[in-house]
Amino acid sequence: MKTDGIRPVDPADVPKKKLRTGDEIPAVGLGTFGSDNYDAATIARAVKTAIRNGYRHIDCAAVYGNEREIGKAIAEVIAEGTVTREELWITSKVWNDRHDDVQGACRQSLRDLQLDYLDLYLVHWPFPNYHAPGVGVDSRDPHARPYIHEEYMKVWREMEALADAGLVRNIGTSNMTIPKLELLLRDCRILPACNEMELHPHFQQPELFDYVVGHGIVPIGFCPIGSPNRPERDKTPEDTNPLEDPVIVGIAERHGVHPAVVCIKWAVQRGQVPIPFSVKPEKFMSNLRCVTEDPLTPEEMEAIAGIDRNCRFIKGQVFLWEGAESWEDLWDADGRIRGWER
Ligand SMILES: NC(=O)c1ccc[n+]([C@@H]2O[C@H](COP(=O)([O-])OP(=O)(O)OC[C@H]3O[C@@H](n4cnc5c(N)ncnc54)[C@H](OP(=O)(O)O)[C@@H]3O)[C@@H](O)[C@H]2O)c1
Repeated sequence: MKTDGIRPVDPADVPKKKLRTGDEIPAVGLGTFGSDNYDAATIARAVKTAIRNGYRHIDCAAVYGNEREIGKAIAEVIAEGTVTREELWITSKVWNDRHDDVQGACRQSLRDLQLDYLDLYLVHWPFPNYHAPGVGVDSRDPHARPYIHEEYMKVWREMEALADAGLVRNIGTSNMTIPKLELLLRDCRILPACNEMELHPHFQQPELFDYVVGHGIVPIGFCPIGSPNRPERDKTPEDTNPLEDPVIVGIAERHGVHPAVVCIKWAVQRGQVPIPFSVKPEKFMSNLRCVTEDPLTPEEMEAIAGIDRNCRFIKGQVFLWEGAESWEDLWDADGRIRGWER
């Protein structure tokens, strides 16, 4: 294995989670959303180094704007013999502006990633937005629309067709709520294998977590470290920081690791699949290695369960439609889906 001078991790030591299709997803993936901080070439370089050193799971999305560069990186590590395609787990996601062309969006991601199939394809957000791709985050998009179940089901039928055609091995959801998932589970032919959702010690989403696990859906956790470098537009004065939480810091000191690593260990031991982002090898390798050694104790797991602050960082404010009052309208807090009547 080519290691670039980094201590590699044996992928066989990284736990996996079995999905309803029987496929097994590696319990830690590498995130690839560079936010405003990292360009596509830097992220693709990190993907190459990560795979050469033991990562097998890469979390991609068309909207991150780097699938072409990541595709080249993947092709290179396969060509050099580091991995086979079958040993990799590649996720991608259909963006909101392609809900009316899911097939086309998927084929574009496959072309960009230089793959014949995806291991997992997700509906990135449950809000259609056909007309204004890339709308500014500070303005209300006049074309944004709320969740409309009939439209979501059209998207899901296309997802099912992709699975039937073998272009994607598993299909799933992202940024869903229990009321929306209830409708999908009632009306779908192929059940979602995974739900990607914000999950970190200050946003544990216990009800949604239990709901998806109870329905055989594997939770994939984004922002597992609390996304400390997320764009300024996604920060509000009320936001907390799990990396500075005394409980996390105390456990990190006891284990002699960075607080970020405690967040990753906690996530995997809780039963979710974290997809931490970093382009820095010392960071992304410690995020992978940590789940192969020195687990948290039951007491430490319990202490972290007690620090949930219900603090959502990725609020989705850009998807608010005219007439919606606040970002909370996107999340069905009281069980009611705003803007669409059942
Ligand atoms: N489905 C969705 O809607 C959705 C939404 C958001 C994110 N995602 C996915 O989830 C991934 C992760 O989320 P995220 O990138 O927002 O947040 P994150 O993984 O919680 O945080 C990433 C930040 O944490 C720092 N970090 C990573 N490992 C560290 C370590 N071992 N020690 C210290 N600092 C560390 C990195 O700092 P440096 O920059 O200094 O390396 C990086 O900026 C994304 O890349 C994307 O693939 C999906």
